[in-house]
Amino acid sequence: MRLLYTDKHPMFEARNIGCYDNVALRADTAGGCTHIDISFRSSPRRPYFCTMELLKNVSIAEFTSFKIGGKADYFCRARSVDELKEALAFARRHSLPIFILGGGTNMLLSDDGFRGVVVKIELHGVKWGEASVVAAGENWDSFVAETVARGLWGLENLSGIPGTVGAAPVQNIGAYGVEIAEVLEWVEALDMRTGEIKQLSNADCAFAYRDSIFKKQEGKNFIITRVAFRLQKDGAPNLQYKDLAEYFSSGGAPTLQQIRRAVLEIRARKFPDLKTHGTAGSFFKNPIISKEKFEELKKRFPGLSGFPVPSGVKVPLAWILDKICGLKGFEQDNTALWKDQPLVLVNKGGASASAVSALADNIAHIVKEKTGIEIEREVNFLC
Ligand code: EPU
Repeated sequence: MRLLYTDKHPMFEARNIGCYDNVALRADTAGGCTHIDISFRSSPRRPYFCTMELLKNVSIAEFTSFKIGGKADYFCRARSVDELKEALAFARRHSLPIFILGGGTNMLLSDDGFRGVVVKIELHGVKWGEASVVAAGENWDSFVAETVARGLWGLENLSGIPGTVGAAPVQNIGAYGVEIAEVLEWVEALDMRTGEIKQLSNADCAFAYRDSIFKKQEGKNFIITRVAFRLQKDGAPNLQYKDLAEYFSSGGAPTLQQIRRAVLEIRARKFPDLKTHGTAGSFFKNPIISKEKFEELKKRFPGLSGFPVPSGVKVPLAWILDKICGLKGFEQDNTALWKDQPLVLVNKGGASASAVSALADNIAHIVKEKTGIEIEREVNFLC
């Protein structure tokens, strides 16, 4: 038996001493007697105490791809919506902030850790039907691999992206000419204010480049529990992105499997291996600048490309960092801009969050000085 969590009962001290699937054990000591209670989570009269496993002073670095950061005061895994609600209730009871952790692949945790409750979403399951409905805790790339194996088109260009399904809509993940917003049908989320489960349509999610309602104040109260995708049995390859077009330049329409393999190969050439380097992928967003600003920069730097978007022109920061700033491979305090893709910052081993942050500030300063562009971080900073 494991001691999981001690909380104060109004009359005496109650300790949760075990939590095994649907069964919770609790020991109460009162008047010199110890009572062991066994309760079932499906029971209509639910116990007042937590059945989730709540741990104290947990190092969070190992749950992040950067492998950086201090300890969280509390940590738990939510394997069901009930457990998620229990975690929220605990945080509310103790007036603690809560942080929802997916795969930890797009975050930088402060060296001082987090003075609140980190809840790791471990909701699992996939339902295949007209829409493919996936629980938030599923691994993104395993899900994509399964869609490809089933002959479903739509997510193949998003192969190889680390992280969980639940985190994907938050930043509207995108790669090789596709954004999740293009195939997402709805998102199911727990509203922290009311405890209700809500369904948000694609339009409700207000998707934009690396942006959604979940990054804004009005969406901060939602915890994503499931995501539904509309995938096609008879789709067609999307090879508009330069790297993919070049890969398949010899002609012929590639199969789903071939596209997935190509994307994984291209990514492997550009991105560091997470097994050897801590990283959170692209650290900054590609900046969107005005048409006038683009024309001005294009005169000074003729090689600069631009992609028209509704709000202006999106320019490749990797190119700017490489060709204008000469920062590719630059190192500082165990951190670096990756040698094959400078938009990706890496922990070369033992780097601190403050060192990564200092490097990021330094980069932003140099880019501003050389181009006048203010760049924005894409990675979430948790402190
Ligand atoms: N480039 C250079 N030097 C380099 C690397 C790239 O000049 O060392 C140039 C390339 O020539 C290319 C341009 O920069 O034309 C853009 O590079 P790339 O195609 O690698 O894409 P990116 O814009 O840097 C974005 C996403 C990535 C995604 C790729 C592929 C953002 C912030 N990043 O990167 O997403 O995988 O496109 O589609 O939009 C992530 O978000 O973590 C991420 C990795």
